[in-house]
Amino acid sequence: KSIKIFAPATVANLSCGFDVLGCCLDTIGDEMIISITEEPGVKITKIEGADLPFETHKNVAGVAVESFLSAYGKDIGVTIEIYKKIKAGSGIGSSAASSAGAVWAINHLLGNPFTPQKLVEFAMQGEKLASGNAHADNVAPALLGGFTLVRSYSPLDIIKLHSPKDLVMTVIHPQIEVKTSDSRSVIKHNVTLKKAIQQWGNVGGLVAGLFTEDYDLIGRSLEDVIIEPLRSILIPEFDTVKKAAIQKGALGAGISGSGPSIFALSKGMKTANDVADTIKDIYSKTGIDFDIHISKIN
Ligand code: HSE
Repeated sequence: KSIKIFAPATVANLSCGFDVLGCCLDTIGDEMIISITEEPGVKITKIEGADLPFETHKNVAGVAVESFLSAYGKDIGVTIEIYKKIKAGSGIGSSAASSAGAVWAINHLLGNPFTPQKLVEFAMQGEKLASGNAHADNVAPALLGGFTLVRSYSPLDIIKLHSPKDLVMTVIHPQIEVKTSDSRSVIKHNVTLKKAIQQWGNVGGLVAGLFTEDYDLIGRSLEDVIIEPLRSILIPEFDTVKKAAIQKGALGAGISGSGPSIFALSKGMKTANDVADTIKDIYSKTGIDFDIHISKIN
């Protein structure tokens, strides 16, 4: 038995929700072919588009599937083919796509023995390998779709949020690599009460805005007073891009995951396209290569 899947890219954090909020893109992602075989054990048989390890215990998809199989308890064989389209270190959930895609596919082939929540847990093992931290804010939206909230890590409690139909994401990916582990190391571990109050106000506002389809409220809530000021220095032209995107009509903009990608969320495709054009103009002058993606959230 075998299945070919699309493993989607994701935008984590969404400004105010460090490690807890994320959403799933529908125009960019990897392809994977996952098969169940006679011979027990997990094998990665093909990787195209990226220089990644074939050893199961060093590969995020391999580790995620191992974690799945140890909970499943039966000795089955799995082969994994990975066709990478999402670049590593891009900030749009490259490792999460592989981990989430692999466990989703194997669960499907076995007749869905595990709930999506449980799959998030397995896929998080891949994230732990990739960044040293088992964060779920990319794997959860990759597995559940739309917008998701990690309400709690211990115990794990993943909530699927509502996706207002007119929201469109513009993502620019400057072709410089920022490792999640590096961009986590610039974050301070203490937060003042004043900033914490601002941040949780915004998280509540964003969640309320999504459920009530209140686009202005979504825009007002896309603010990060804790992480973005520290991380944005790693991203060329971040402030210029953010300001220009909002001036062009984006509801808000911020760092996608741990960067260097920058996201802007707009109401409607036309605004998202205008925002993309403006960002292209800014980035063309830097001499840094970049990709731009426009995607609905699905
Ligand atoms: N929440 C994680 C971080 C996402 O910001 O480090 C990494 O993609």
